[in-house]
Amino acid sequence: MMRLDRFLAENGCGTRNEVKKSIRRGEVSVNGETAKKGDQHIDEEHDVITFLGEEIVYHKYVYLMFHKPAGCISATSGSGETVMDYIAEPYRDLFPCGRLDKDTEGLLLITNDGPLAHELLSPKKKTEKEYFVRFANDLGEDDIAKIQSGIVYQGVSYRPAKISEVEGHTCHITLTEGKFHEIKLIFEALGNEVTYLRRLRMKNLELDEDLAPGEYRYLNEEEIRGLKEQN
Ligand code: URA
Repeated sequence: MMRLDRFLAENGCGTRNEVKKSIRRGEVSVNGETAKKGDQHIDEEHDVITFLGEEIVYHKYVYLMFHKPAGCISATSGSGETVMDYIAEPYRDLFPCGRLDKDTEGLLLITNDGPLAHELLSPKKKTEKEYFVRFANDLGEDDIAKIQSGIVYQGVSYRPAKISEVEGHTCHITLTEGKFHEIKLIFEALGNEVTYLRRLRMKNLELDEDLAPGEYRYLNEEEIRGLKEQN
């Protein structure tokens, strides 16, 4: 059982305040009856709730696609701005699934689904993460071959990575692990330097071009299903 206003807010119908107003406007029904109060308790797994005429399907977990801007850290707390500062109330227990460097932009899944995050981040699962990379110096055929075969740098070994779309001083790199500063250090090992990094994809989940840096949206059912599929 849970409060109706909380159910609506946690399932993407607006903030707590917005959904209270929707309820007052008669936009919400519970089992066919127009709801009157946000503090009404509902059985989220069995009651049929509609918002503006559409049934709201209960999700145990929340999944958000966030376009991380540069300048915030991928943590729930810490000094300075965190990615969670961009996520409005009232979603609880959310955390970023994985980390991007403070100056890295792009796709970050924000969820409260611990088991799924654990799966996606497990090195054994080899979840693909694709990045757009801009770098300072020319990239030779030998550099490309090293990226593709995997390198050891400063005592750390990096798995073979995919490289594509090489054009001037930009390319795409796809990793199957997420070591600290991985792409920056791979390029540093080649005597090069990453000047801009943006994550474009994690597994099936592609950064939505309609999301400006700092914006987020709910994942759709197909995206959630794809993330849960076994590799
Ligand atoms: N590789 C990096 O160096 N930084 C990131 O944020 C992600 C991958």
